Amino acid sequence: MILNETFKMYNGVEIPKIGLGTWLVSSDDAEKSVRAALSAGYRHIDTAQGYQNEDGVGRAISESGIKREELFITTKIAARHRSYAAAAASIDESLKKLRTTYADMIIIHSPQPWELVNQSDDRFYEENAEIWRALEDAYEAKKVRAIGVSNFLVGDIENILAHCRIRPMSNQILAHIGNTPHEVIDFCKKHGILVEAYSPIAHGVAKRDSLIIKTAEKYGVSPSRLCIRYALQLGLVALPKSLDPDHMRENADADFVISDGDMKTLCEYDKLKDYAEFGNFPVYGGKK
Ligand SMILES: NC(=O)c1ccc[n+]([C@@H]2O[C@H](COP(=O)([O-])OP(=O)(O)OC[C@H]3O[C@@H](n4cnc5c(N)ncnc54)[C@H](OP(=O)(O)O)[C@@H]3O)[C@@H](O)[C@H]2O)c1
Repeated sequence: MILNETFKMYNGVEIPKIGLGTWLVSSDDAEKSVRAALSAGYRHIDTAQGYQNEDGVGRAISESGIKREELFITTKIAARHRSYAAAAASIDESLKKLRTTYADMIIIHSPQPWELVNQSDDRFYEENAEIWRALEDAYEAKKVRAIGVSNFLVGDIENILAHCRIRPMSNQILAHIGNTPHEVIDFCKKHGILVEAYSPIAHGVAKRDSLIIKTAEKYGVSPSRLCIRYALQLGLVALPKSLDPDHMRENADADFVISDGDMKTLCEYDKLKDYAEFGNFPVYGGKK
């Protein structure tokens, strides 16, 4: 079962290949969806300070009866934190909300504050190096087992590599059929940085795409399953979000293989960059 499979990061920490996303989910709903996911066999949950649902995730995991070491919990330092002190304090606050003494992974949510994404060329190199130092200190203090970044482009990662004591273990980025950032993925692979695919179903828009629908039919799977299998076959962690327990189970059924020829076609396909009603989110090219 794919939910038991892991990728290994360069520091030896294993991360389940599929995790449950929780963006735009209230704390109460996150508690319910995490409970449902854990019942379905998920052990990897992706939350963030910015999602304001860490306490709901914390309630679900602490009351699950599942041993803490069997879970993999990621949270993210909010994009508004731009200093060592703010980042360090936010890590302690997250651990409290998550009701745990350590997180499995903490990542910098964005190299820029959200209101400047797609608006400014300032990549906040100095501030990101400071935030990174807070993560390194938390790692050394064993408050977190792996540290990484998110939405970082090649230049953003190079900045961290030039200033760090500990190299990033992961980069969580927008990656799905129709919008696969090969340059960043290749750079990360070259530097031993594990890539996590967020919005693997393009926030749901992939379900309406004709190439994805046609290819999914060929394999007798749903568009969502095709999308998740695609991310896994590229060697990426997949983080599908669902509030529906049936969908959660379906998304974990990745036991089929996309042929080399179809993978090539899907990798080259770059026409799914219109997120329709969701296009205003900075992560999809919009402005906050
Ligand atoms: N680091 C970042 O900046 C960042 C940015 C975006 C996302 N993320 C992470 O990535 C996670 C996933 O991304 P996302 O939330 O944008 O969306 P997504 O996983 O690409 O798509 C979620 C949508 O697809 C639907 N869906 C899921 N499985 C389905 C299935 N089997 N059949 C039919 N519909 C299905 C969901 O509806 P139902 O609830 O009805 O299933 C929901 O509407 C986030 O929740 C978050 O944890 C991180």
